[in-house]
Amino acid sequence: MTGSCHGLPRTESSSYRQPKDLPKHIVSHYREDKPNIAANHPNVCELEAGTYYWCVCGHSQNGSFCDGSHKTTPFTPQKFEISETQKVAICQCKQTKNPPYCDGSHKVL
Ligand code: FES
Repeated sequence: MTGSCHGLPRTESSSYRQPKDLPKHIVSHYREDKPNIAANHPNVCELEAGTYYWCVCGHSQNGSFCDGSHKTTPFTPQKFEISETQKVAICQCKQTKNPPYCDGSHKVL
């Protein structure tokens, strides 16, 4: 599985960083009840068929796909499937009502 999105999507695996390895800014500015706004625009890209995990906490280094940063938060990544290669707009503001896809909510932040 590969894709041309910014930040190569990954499935969950044991290769993710552990909480002790997370950057200090994630721990020190973490708000328990709100996801971090990774960017105020979507990640528009082409994804191949496969399984992906959308970053829900907003702390992933690529903003779109889980990199394990949620492990110190109450959030969990959202699994989604792509059945055939297609262009998508992945939400990075974490305010969409149609996750993981952008619904324009970033325009009113
Ligand atoms: S980037 Fe989140 S709704 Fe557009």
